[in-house]
Amino acid sequence: MVCRDRARGEAARDEIKSQSKNESVDLMLADLSLLDSVRSLAAEFGAEYSKLDVLINNAAVVMSSRTMTPEGFEQMFATNYLGPFLLTRLLIPYLEAARPSRIINVTAPSTTRPNLDDLQGERKFSSLGAFGASKAADLLFTYALARRLGGRGITANAYHPGIMKTNPQSHGPHTHSASRRRHQPVRWRDPGTGLGRSGATGHFCSVRGY
Ligand SMILES: NC(=O)c1ccc[n+]([C@@H]2O[C@H](COP(=O)([O-])OP(=O)(O)OC[C@H]3O[C@@H](n4cnc5c(N)ncnc54)[C@H](OP(=O)(O)O)[C@@H]3O)[C@@H](O)[C@H]2O)c1
Repeated sequence: MVCRDRARGEAARDEIKSQSKNESVDLMLADLSLLDSVRSLAAEFGAEYSKLDVLINNAAVVMSSRTMTPEGFEQMFATNYLGPFLLTRLLIPYLEAARPSRIINVTAPSTTRPNLDDLQGERKFSSLGAFGASKAADLLFTYALARRLGGRGITANAYHPGIMKTNPQSHGPHTHSASRRRHQPVRWRDPGTGLGRSGATGHFCSVRGY
């Protein structure tokens, strides 16, 4: 597992070990919004392991205002798309070594068309628009990966987990209210159980394989 914060990462790793009764859970630290950090992560992985069975690109952020990374990329574009894109590219040799293997990109239904002439939101920025564009980029990336890697024994899938009251949903007042307007009534699901107020678990969830 990869986390950006040592203390929270170690706490999460220890909880997984304790609940799964499996001691074989390793933690690596990286900031996925920084390409230098992603390159170091891939190098560290290569020094430790010879193959990778499943890569899950899960990390994402929702920013209520336009924020830049120290490397000069818009934060949502960098975290939600650029970092996972680079990491995936760098780890393909290890996925090939484990064939049949798979890549799972966690996406969202709130995709918006990326403006290819303004990927960084320099001319026009909205929180939901930039988030949706980054998730659409993940989808397009997944389609391209599936097309290019399918014959090589690596599958690529996009996965939508459903609407859950997790950190981006709880801590983004701007996004929260916009989401409410668009999707009323929002049926938040509990991240622990996956259960919404209606008790339904399946109808928000979709898995697509190509
Ligand atoms: N919640 C929903 O309703 C919903 C709906 C559709 C899709 N999704 C997708 O589900 C995935 C998980 O989201 P979530 O709802 O579980 O949100 P979450 O609780 O905030 O989880 C996001 C994780 O990404 C990590 N992260 C963010 N920026 C990072 C960075 N630069 N480097 C490394 N790790 C970073 C966060 O680490 P920290 O703990 O350090 O912040 C956090 O652990 C995302 O791809 C999201 O778009 C969620």
